[in-house]
Amino acid sequence: MSVILGINAFHAGASAALVVDGQPVAAIAEERLNRQKYYAGFPHLAVRRCLAMAGLALGDVEHVAIGREPAANRAKKIEFVLRNPSRLLNLLKIRGSRTRLDDARTLLAADHEVDPAKLRFQQWNVEHHLAHTASAYFASPWDEAAGFSIDGSGDFITCMLSECRGDDITVRERIYVPHSLGSLYTMIGEFLGFAGYGDEGKVMGLSAMGRDTFREQFEDIVKLRPDGFELNPKYFQPFGSGQGMSVDEHGQVVVHRHYSDYVAEVFGPPRAADAEITSRDCDLAFGVQRLFEDVYMHLLNRLHALVPSSRVAMAGGCVLNSVANGKLFARTPFRETCIQPAAGDDGLSLGAALYVSRAGLREQRRWVMNDAYLGPEFSEEEIRRALDGAGVTCQRFDRPALLEATVDEIAGGAVVGWFQGRMEWGPRALGNRSIVAHPGLTNMKDVLNARIKRREAFRPFAPSVLAERQHELFEHAHPSPFMLHVYRIRPEWRERLVAVNHVDDTGRLQSVRRDENPLYYDLISAFERRTGLPVLLNTSFNENEPIVCTPAEAIDCFQRTRMDALVLGPFLCRKSISVP
Ligand SMILES: [Fe+2]
Repeated sequence: MSVILGINAFHAGASAALVVDGQPVAAIAEERLNRQKYYAGFPHLAVRRCLAMAGLALGDVEHVAIGREPAANRAKKIEFVLRNPSRLLNLLKIRGSRTRLDDARTLLAADHEVDPAKLRFQQWNVEHHLAHTASAYFASPWDEAAGFSIDGSGDFITCMLSECRGDDITVRERIYVPHSLGSLYTMIGEFLGFAGYGDEGKVMGLSAMGRDTFREQFEDIVKLRPDGFELNPKYFQPFGSGQGMSVDEHGQVVVHRHYSDYVAEVFGPPRAADAEITSRDCDLAFGVQRLFEDVYMHLLNRLHALVPSSRVAMAGGCVLNSVANGKLFARTPFRETCIQPAAGDDGLSLGAALYVSRAGLREQRRWVMNDAYLGPEFSEEEIRRALDGAGVTCQRFDRPALLEATVDEIAGGAVVGWFQGRMEWGPRALGNRSIVAHPGLTNMKDVLNARIKRREAFRPFAPSVLAERQHELFEHAHPSPFMLHVYRIRPEWRERLVAVNHVDDTGRLQSVRRDENPLYYDLISAFERRTGLPVLLNTSFNENEPIVCTPAEAIDCFQRTRMDALVLGPFLCRKSISVP
């Protein structure tokens, strides 16, 4: 038996993943366990939970894979420091917080209070973008593909173009800091008052409401080159000057201002976080999204010229831009995508572990990522105890009756918490830790926002659609199992799916196959039999917090919000019964 523990630590999206005999058996982001969103410390709890789920101890681990390689791109780092000696101190400060990973044995031994001599594992450091690429390619069913990894930055590079063949990933080109598509998007997001880590999705949602009024100004920010692109430094705080991201003593990511004063000279004053959103702000969001797409497609086309495959394996934070992903079939020669659900840095633990398994140890492929359900699950007994402990009254149903009773609720306009099976890996709720609702009710978006989600009104809710029916409802049939493509909704369905139809008539869909999630598929099917809609509105099960993991957290969210009903395993609880 081979046991590989993957770790992402001291970096946003701290996480752990366990690969046993070439097969991922568990993967969890620390935020789901310690309840601190985007936690960037050490994944103490995730490591323990992964091992417990596999029935293993730390002493059983033979390989530890870290999604970071300090020795990578050293020549570029030295060159940068020689040219910018005043920034050396800042760069060392950022590195300082992560040097503990250089010796994973001491770190893990101390964390688990065991003698380091008893830990027999070999440590592997996998370059950040190789780990991203591996997380997608080695999850795919393919034996060859182009590899595309793109984000803010990692190990001094921002984009890696590679050739994936058999068990090998061969790097063809790298783009180095400060030329970063992720930083470009973050910079405009901060200027628009969305300055929190992970706020880029808000800008993407807002972009649908804007117009193309700043084309000329945006084109001054980026210069496309045959082998990549360059950012115009006038618009950015200098790289290494303290801009970018750091981690505070509580493991929280702190985002430092990326934009320069020149941005305000061009676009006017920045928007305060609590200010009204103006048409200028919408147009800026539109402008950065359009520019992002232009650079993204340029890089993908460059990748295709280097690696002329019809398939592309994609990861890195920028790949969460589902609007761009939905357009790449029209704008590049690629015909198939494999996008890892944890495309951001939370996915580095799984990617590093898969890289060691396949490229390092040459283990045979035994696994294809058909679903994202790699997290903890809870038995009926554990759910029952949590319900009893919270004093919640519920009914137990067998499966057909549970589906019908849940559909009764949803079809009647209720907001329903749906908690089943293993928790999803990655930032999206995919039908196991979801809040589901009727997608065809005009007021459902406002109801969800008023009662539970309290998100900005411009942000759309997502549809889960039966995979076989996708082509009837959407203008593209390429599957989107992890909710990472946005497609246009066909005209005849827009009114019928009003609660999931964005202002530009698109939806960020999840295509649901029965073999991937039979219970969720059957719920949508039952809903279709009742209403004629093969779609449910699906949003993550949370209220301004990480997505719920345990039954107790689900019950707590149900009780403190105005959710109407909660389905936990076979139990259905209605607010009218449980709360006086
Ligand atoms: Fe990354």
